[in-house]
Amino acid sequence: MAGVSVQAFRRQGRRFGAGLVCSEMVSCAGIEHRNERTLGYLRVAADEHPLAIQIFGAGPAAMAEAARMVEAAGADIVDVNFGCPVRKVTKTGAGATLLDDPERACRIVEAVASAVSLPVSVKMRRGLRDGSRDCLEVGPQLVEAGAASLTLHPRSAQQMYTGEADHALTAELVERVPVPVVASGDITSRARAQAVLATTGAAAVMVGRGAQGNPWVLREITDGETADPTREEVVAELLLFIRETVRELGERRASGFLKKFYGWYLGRGCAGRRFPRPFKAELTQIDDLAEVERRLLAAAPGAAELVERLLDELPDVDEVLLDRMPISIYGGG
Ligand SMILES: Cc1cc2nc3c(=O)[nH]c(=O)nc-3n(C[C@H](O)[C@H](O)[C@H](O)COP(=O)(O)O)c2cc1C
Repeated sequence: MAGVSVQAFRRQGRRFGAGLVCSEMVSCAGIEHRNERTLGYLRVAADEHPLAIQIFGAGPAAMAEAARMVEAAGADIVDVNFGCPVRKVTKTGAGATLLDDPERACRIVEAVASAVSLPVSVKMRRGLRDGSRDCLEVGPQLVEAGAASLTLHPRSAQQMYTGEADHALTAELVERVPVPVVASGDITSRARAQAVLATTGAAAVMVGRGAQGNPWVLREITDGETADPTREEVVAELLLFIRETVRELGERRASGFLKKFYGWYLGRGCAGRRFPRPFKAELTQIDDLAEVERRLLAAAPGAAELVERLLDELPDVDEVLLDRMPISIYGGG
């Protein structure tokens, strides 16, 4: 998820039981131009495997080049984005708009699949317009072109994130393709995951928004663990997330990036872990992350010990990729 699935989010997801994690979408144009921030998205830590890195773009050659970089970065899967509904992306001919141009979409998948030895997966929406069933026509063609698995978010691009994901369509797609299909959309609990798996025949479910500030849902889905985290556990995970994100993005970028996470962590769940609304609002006004940490610890003093324990248990970040990358992603800085 763009603006969400940073390395800290992915590593946390793996710790809480996710079988596979995926990067934010990475622009192939950004890779082509060696944009420093784009290349930063290709940083892979040793403890996040298996990891898919997702690329988006409209040109087969540039996408193939991006896929080679993804392979060099150490990802396990190259994922191709045919789902992004955002105008900034679709107006360049990338993302969900490719569902309207299956011939080009197939050329992209072919180019990517022949550029790398990694499996290539495709993430798509049902189609561009409401009620569209285009994914059922395009999906099998993408498999013919070389996609080893498909992930379907069965909303239209027009819908953005409104309404409901129509997993009846996921079931139809499963019938039509010989590769694993992953169901994405509105998976927010174990019961929902089980129902979607049972009614669609999908090979796996993907959890998006449900895991924002709530890694515990992953444990619930995978293990049936239903115990709610305590306030201290919630704050400890948030503190760890803050520290990890600072390491990854630097203090200045992290400070803005993290603001949306405060509400996600502190806002939902059972009454016992809820924090007063003004407290959450105040945190988003603070740019100094040391001050954010102080306030969080004041609200849940027991979190200090927990976060130290988490830090002890966490393996050192061993970003294995850098010397294997065709260029140094820090060198141009
Ligand atoms: C903030 C945000 C960013 C997203 N970014 C991406 C992305 O970069 N690539 C992608 O394939 N899907 C992206 N998605 C879509 C999700 O992967 C997922 O398909 C969708 O949110 C439905 O699943 P959910 O109900 O579990 O969130 C994004 C969704 C959100 C809310």
